[in-house]
Amino acid sequence: MSVADPPGAMRLETGIWLVGAAGMLGRQLAGEFAARGWAFFASDREVDIRDPRQLEATARSRRIAWIVNCAAFTAVDRAEDEPEAALAVNALGVENLARLAGEIGAKLIHFSSDYVFAGDRDAPYLELDEPNPLSRYGWSKLQGELRLASRLDRHFLLRVSWLYGVHGPNFVHTMLRVFAEQEKARVVNDQFGSPTYAALLARNVAGLVAADSERFGTYHYCDAGVISWFDFAVAIQELALQTGMIVKKIPVEAISSREFTTRAQRPARSVLDCAKVQAELGFRVHPWRSNLEDFFAEKAWHAAHEDPHGGRA
Ligand SMILES: NC(=O)c1ccc[n+]([C@@H]2O[C@H](COP(=O)([O-])OP(=O)(O)OC[C@H]3O[C@@H](n4cnc5c(N)ncnc54)[C@H](OP(=O)(O)O)[C@@H]3O)[C@@H](O)[C@H]2O)c1
Repeated sequence: MSVADPPGAMRLETGIWLVGAAGMLGRQLAGEFAARGWAFFASDREVDIRDPRQLEATARSRRIAWIVNCAAFTAVDRAEDEPEAALAVNALGVENLARLAGEIGAKLIHFSSDYVFAGDRDAPYLELDEPNPLSRYGWSKLQGELRLASRLDRHFLLRVSWLYGVHGPNFVHTMLRVFAEQEKARVVNDQFGSPTYAALLARNVAGLVAADSERFGTYHYCDAGVISWFDFAVAIQELALQTGMIVKKIPVEAISSREFTTRAQRPARSVLDCAKVQAELGFRVHPWRSNLEDFFAEKAWHAAHEDPHGGRA
């Protein structure tokens, strides 16, 4: 797959390879890069990050200065039953990319998750806090982090939480479907965190590339403010009603995690401290509520322009 590069048109001065470009964040980044007029090479499943030969063959014909990796095994509950499959993508795949980046002299941007933490304390997590994942997904992401750090110095590791955007399945799209189709919504009110709006994340990541930053390391990034999934659902309903995305209001009931069991255990409070990413990389962090408003505007824009790439629920 190639989102924005006519064959052979990759500009040497940007030299970006967007990996996992068909996923939620990958599509957001592809849109952001394209909007900036950047030529870049994009791949998804057809270049399997589990296979070093496929990665090398792809890199051989191109000059790549940046690899931005959005490829991942993200099915959190499925990872409980398929830990090897999660590990193969989230750890081995990342190691393969890190090794390749080292060989070709490219910088690597990689994304990890708040699920590497146990979420059993009140204070927000700093980058140096000890990870202790509760789930096999979290464990596979942590293994990826460790392998990245051991293989490549010139990397940016961005841990994000509760990622959502106009592309791809996520909590906001699930709630919009529930509000449109059900008589009542039940949402957990004892898991706390901060959403991450993919569009602003993509803008920040593009800024990092544009600055050709060398401030490598691990960073935490999410929207400002701490909420429960229930709080998030209530706000989604309010804004969906205001913007006419849904027409009827249904009751939203707050429930406990015990009443909504999932295969994988989730952290109760996985709040990320984002001071470092703002101070060192100049990332902009907006309040979660204003980002949610921007999300609805972005969704409306896609609907108005009948963009075939606009949100899929
Ligand atoms: N979503 C969240 O709430 C969340 C929260 C925190 C952190 N993150 C992290 O943020 C990053 C982006 O997440 P996302 O939600 O955008 O993920 P996503 O929508 O699941 O996209 C991942 C993409 O990678 C592809 N892929 C899977 N295995 C591959 C392989 N072996 N080789 C090449 N491509 C492969 C997937 O294809 P298929 O769809 O065919 O599998 C998919 O297109 C991930 O690192 C994720 O762990 C996500």
